[in-house]
Amino acid sequence: MTDSQLWQIADEIKDNAYSPYSNIKVGAALLTSDGNVFTGVNVENSSFGATICAERSAVVSAVSGGFRDFVKIAISGTMKSCTPCGICRQFLMEFSPDITVVYKEPDGTLVSKKLNELLPDSFIY
Ligand code: THU
Repeated sequence: MTDSQLWQIADEIKDNAYSPYSNIKVGAALLTSDGNVFTGVNVENSSFGATICAERSAVVSAVSGGFRDFVKIAISGTMKSCTPCGICRQFLMEFSPDITVVYKEPDGTLVSKKLNELLPDSFIY
């Protein structure tokens, strides 16, 4: 699965986002070490703090399905920068510190970075 293919899946699923408050739609596609792909979207709530991001939706879906070893996650969204928020970086770190994160820069360039680059010196329990 190429970065571009995984990003395409994230881009398509983002239409399922439930975001009546921010109007921002985000989709995530998470590739497991055995080649499965789990998707997620942001799901907002009138109690704003209860909102869940697309990345965490995808991780929750994968873990619920019995998968915890992730190699790559792609994110597509209608906001300018599609890098995972701080909570999502920490959430991904829990399962796969070596995961690659794929997203588009504001100019449309597809980039991939290691989670360790995005969350250096992370908290370890
Ligand atoms: N959002 C995500 O889905 N992922 C992120 O990494 C950042 C933010 C969503 C949450 C909320 O529904 C909307 O974007 C605005 O913050």
